[in-house]
Amino acid sequence: MANLKASYLGLELKNPLVVSSNPLTDSVTSVARLEAAGAAAVVMRSIFEEQINADVAEMVESLEGDTSMAALEYLRADLPGQLGPEKYVEKLKAMRAAVKIPIIASINCVKAANWVSYAKKLERAGADAIELNLYHMPVDPAETAASVETRRLMLVKAILSEVKLPVTVKLSSHYTSLLAFARMLDAAGVRGMVLFNRFLQTRVNAETESIFYAPDYSSPNVLHSQLRWTAVIRDWVRCSVAISGGIHSGEDLAKALLVGADIGYICSVLHVRRDLKVIQEILDGLSAWMAHRGYAALPAFRGKLRETNLRDGTGFERMQYVRAAAKVS
Ligand SMILES: Cc1cc2nc3c(=O)[nH]c(=O)nc-3n(C[C@H](O)[C@H](O)[C@H](O)COP(=O)(O)O)c2cc1C
Repeated sequence: MANLKASYLGLELKNPLVVSSNPLTDSVTSVARLEAAGAAAVVMRSIFEEQINADVAEMVESLEGDTSMAALEYLRADLPGQLGPEKYVEKLKAMRAAVKIPIIASINCVKAANWVSYAKKLERAGADAIELNLYHMPVDPAETAASVETRRLMLVKAILSEVKLPVTVKLSSHYTSLLAFARMLDAAGVRGMVLFNRFLQTRVNAETESIFYAPDYSSPNVLHSQLRWTAVIRDWVRCSVAISGGIHSGEDLAKALLVGADIGYICSVLHVRRDLKVIQEILDGLSAWMAHRGYAALPAFRGKLRETNLRDGTGFERMQYVRAAAKVS
């Protein structure tokens, strides 16, 4: 029987399969089911700055009736700090009491000021790590790529300076120079990075000429980009690397580990299959693949296909692309 023990952000995991942030990691019952089904850890559904602001707005409204204007102003200024992510923290505490696997809290943050205190609350509530979901659309036409990256780096640094918990950053693939940004995060002290976040896409309905949102699940076809960038980044950062996006089978997970990921995240496959048994199927698939290749444990093959191991021109850089293109034409 293969030894599937893995390590991520300094946390010892029973296997390299973690359930990423999504609605299935939003309730205590569901997280307990994921643990029973074999998940090594879970990332809670993200809490968004907008959610907290909405909670605060609701609270301000309820105060308005019978509070003096001066008191109201004072309360309004202080409420975000006071309320923080209270509902989220309560949920995290309940999850912590209900399961043994590591729980990674996830925050989608835009402004550093709020999140530094929120991250501390999550630490106190028993999170094993914090994932920063850095997604924010840069829609200011005057802001350059360098300025967007500096702002995000400062945010991560502010949180790192306040919490002792391991912090991992979930990246988007939309960076001008992903490798340089990853190196800056690593140097700042993040313990891990997740490649990549997959966004809920805005769809356009041509019939009604309106936009709408609908769940957008992945297929294994989207795994390539994550494999390529993990292979490239692996030897340039000291921190853990997780692949998120397109892992649907044991073989997909084996590919993620081969290019140098420490673990794989799954989300879509749980929604597509609608059966948590798929977690054990993926783990059994990985074990079978390892047995077939004669690998007793993950370090025997992890990173074998990272870019620096492939410097003979067969790697993930342009040469491989050129060869494939030549074959097609
Ligand atoms: C319905 C749904 C909700 C999601 N919610 C979050 C979220 O709150 N925070 C986050 O960081 N990622 C979220 N994700 C992204 C997933 O965690 C994951 O990174 C992405 O779906 C790619 O992995 P997959 O191919 O295994 O689905 C969500 C994905 C889906 C499908």
